[in-house]
Amino acid sequence: MNILVTGGAGYIGSHTCIALLEAGHSVIIADNLSNSKRETVMKIMDIADKEVTFYEIDVTDAEAVDIIFRNYKIDGVIHFAGLKAVGESVEKPLEYYYNNIVSTMVITKACQKYGVDRFVFSSSATVYGDNKVPFVETMDLLPTTNPYGETKAMSERILTDIANANPAFSVSILRYFNPVGAHESGLIGEAPNGIPNNLMPYVTQVAKGKLEKLRVFGNNYPTVDGTGVRDYIHVLDLAEGHVAALENLTEGVHVYNLGTGKGTSVLELVKAFEEANDIEVPYEIVDRRPGDIASCYADASKAKQELGWTAKRDIIAMCRDAWRFEKNYKE
Ligand code: NAD
Ligand code: WQD
Repeated sequence: MNILVTGGAGYIGSHTCIALLEAGHSVIIADNLSNSKRETVMKIMDIADKEVTFYEIDVTDAEAVDIIFRNYKIDGVIHFAGLKAVGESVEKPLEYYYNNIVSTMVITKACQKYGVDRFVFSSSATVYGDNKVPFVETMDLLPTTNPYGETKAMSERILTDIANANPAFSVSILRYFNPVGAHESGLIGEAPNGIPNNLMPYVTQVAKGKLEKLRVFGNNYPTVDGTGVRDYIHVLDLAEGHVAALENLTEGVHVYNLGTGKGTSVLELVKAFEEANDIEVPYEIVDRRPGDIASCYADASKAKQELGWTAKRDIIAMCRDAWRFEKNYKE
């Protein structure tokens, strides 16, 4: 299939492009490079040893998007493009609502115009809010505490309404848990701008000596050791989940958790990182981070049953691959 991958130069998108190419699909990337680099597109081609087509466009720009649909017979879209920093979304709500909602509407509108009825969307476990773990797709969603989360919940709603009104439109909404790790080549991975907000990139930068020590946000949660528990998933497993979702798509709206189903605490992750890489990660315990919940992990059984997909890589592989990329990475 010819797959349009919006945000394909980004962290999850780039790994997914490789998985798509390896599965025999053709890839057209549309990315404005607002949080990624052009050279990542070259690296995707190097790793997969295949060509991809790249458009440097903003996917809120309907005319620029139309050109792609006009030039190529697109069979399906994976829509990753979006802004994703939770804290920043509180500071710049309009930017987040505009970018994340308008992009979803522009792309789906082009799909309708050109009769493209396969659509895979990047959602987030954040839409569950502070629900009871494990999170199951059938749960009522709870309000999120930030505009970023709202853009995901709203986009889910928009896609659901469109699919309900257009029976041929097939949508897979993928709720990612905590993607970490990198391609085993060490060539592509997560390279946040500035000081990382997320745990794994923070840990890798402490290990590299770029940051002095990890601050562990709270050790008095009702969890195994008091620190926050999350469902970390290797980005390559996540990438393969997208290929499975795309290839098994049927009419209607389908929501899938993409997680491992296993929770890991902050201190367990630090220990796993130290063991996997034989390197010390100094840390201190500080106050809880506002907006954090104690535990977040998936019931991952629906994706296994319906897509035949399950995460294969363990926390040691995630830590090893994240560190390999960080060691190689030059700003
Ligand atoms: P990323 O920032 O690395 O990738 C997003 C890509 O989209 C970037 O390359 C950026 O340049 C591009 N982009 C943003 N707005 C655009 C626009 N208007 N037009 C064209 N390109 C645009 O982020 P990621 O971690 O790869 O996340 C991909 C998707 O998955 C996002 O929608 C994100 O919200 C979602 N998600 C991410 C996580 C996570 O922890 N990384 C978790 C759940 C969901
Ligand atoms: C993980 C755990 C922190 C940093 C976020 C978004 C979510 C999704 C994934 C996009 C928590 C602790 C972290 C640090 C720490 N993104 N921590 N010290 O908050 O689960 O999810 O990314 O959709 O929407 O909210 O991920 O990696 O920030 O935190 O102790 O320096 O690590 O408190 O328990 P989070 P995270």
